[in-house]
Amino acid sequence: MSDLPTTIVIFGASGDLTCRKLIPSLYKLYADNELPDKLSIVAAAHTNLDTNSYFTERLKPPNHDLWPEFLAKVKYIRTDFEDLEDFEKLNAELIQIEGSTKANRIYYLSCAPRYYRSIVSHLGKQGMAKEAAGWRRIVIEKPFGTDLESARDLNAHVHSVFDENQIYRIDHYLGKDTVQNILVLRFANAMFEPLWNRNYVEQVQITVAEDEGIGHRGGYYDSAGVLRDMYQNHLLQLISLVAMEPPATLDAESLRNEKVKVLRAVRTMSTLGIPNDTVFGQYDGYLHEPKIRSGSHTPSYCAVTMQIDNWRWLGVPFHLRTGKALKERLTEIVVQFREPPHVMFDGDSQSVINPNALILRIQPDEGVHLRFETKQPGGDMEMSTVHMEFRYADSVSAPIGDAYERLLQDALEGDASLFTRSDEIELAWQLTDPIVEFAEGPSSSLGTYPKGSWGPASADKLMEAYGHSWITGPLKQ
Ligand code: BG6
Repeated sequence: MSDLPTTIVIFGASGDLTCRKLIPSLYKLYADNELPDKLSIVAAAHTNLDTNSYFTERLKPPNHDLWPEFLAKVKYIRTDFEDLEDFEKLNAELIQIEGSTKANRIYYLSCAPRYYRSIVSHLGKQGMAKEAAGWRRIVIEKPFGTDLESARDLNAHVHSVFDENQIYRIDHYLGKDTVQNILVLRFANAMFEPLWNRNYVEQVQITVAEDEGIGHRGGYYDSAGVLRDMYQNHLLQLISLVAMEPPATLDAESLRNEKVKVLRAVRTMSTLGIPNDTVFGQYDGYLHEPKIRSGSHTPSYCAVTMQIDNWRWLGVPFHLRTGKALKERLTEIVVQFREPPHVMFDGDSQSVINPNALILRIQPDEGVHLRFETKQPGGDMEMSTVHMEFRYADSVSAPIGDAYERLLQDALEGDASLFTRSDEIELAWQLTDPIVEFAEGPSSSLGTYPKGSWGPASADKLMEAYGHSWITGPLKQ
């Protein structure tokens, strides 16, 4: 890392994400001695606060000795994100904090997306994006646009001030250790990859289930819905990692090139395919949540069967589902292999054979499970289904860190591999837009589902059409 002073400026200092994730993650990195020595953190927001009241009113102190020492690095600066003069003042204060006209800076946009454009413009107009005085990076939180057109427009706007290699678009799922483990599992083991294709894989399922409802985020969520909130980003990122070809190296460009190739190969859903291969639902009680429009048609659940038209995956359905207020919080990827071509054991058993499955448990109870058949002890060749398990909690000494710790560290180090590139984000919208249009249009039917269930019953019918059924939690079958 460079010796220059480094500043992280967080726009949107009072928001939940900053107070509950970013500052605590920076603190954890500080406590672990992972931050540059000359680091300052500037929290910028509209609210009239001073640094002390920001600490006491917004931040929850952890029970840890180093907290006061860490707070000495943090300063609150009231900033109107739409006022160009405030950026002039902000820049002057930053130079003072940095104690030099040469410093590295990260501008972290954690505020409401409606301010992204003005912040970027003002940074440009005040010369705050110029790299001559140290590097400049901009980290942009999701949602990056609300459809292809707005994402393109935002990309063009950000590119008018920053080069692509200065831009870090966050999808926090990529910061999760278990998501990165998809790559290690696939490409650091010789035994899985030869089977990882249409010849041996019958179907892939991805479940991203949340047990909580939308809570106090109704204002945002009701205009976003599950497709923009989860499908366009987290689900499509998981698919890219599961389906991509091995990159030659792990550098940002190679990795992102391979992910982009997967998105390009995903079959765009036509008006005919969408009704058969999607299910949308809204949980009972959604309409009574705060800030929800009366009679809202916004889905809080979706199931989508996707096809990837390339040599590796042609004909293998990828069944994806995600939703709020479901039975439990669970993110899991199931790769189900084909049945053996011939089973000679016992006629009865053949009809109940459970095909092999590799289950990647992303969260919680992180781990990997392999489902296979074994012989029951005793005289007959009776089979039973068993699981081989790896659980991070039992086997790995270091605890799994928060995704934001990793992403902040990568942004500081200039490693963009776990951030999304402009073409990747646009492709993801291109795939999502037709589904959103259908879901929000008159011909879509929005099933309701009870809170605490696995979603609308029609999601099971979607699977039946393929002769499949949802596999949930290998240990609970
Ligand atoms: C966010 C979505 O991107 O991801 C939220 O906006 C969702 O609606 C969250 O709850 C899920 O993230 P995690 O890390 O809790 O699985």
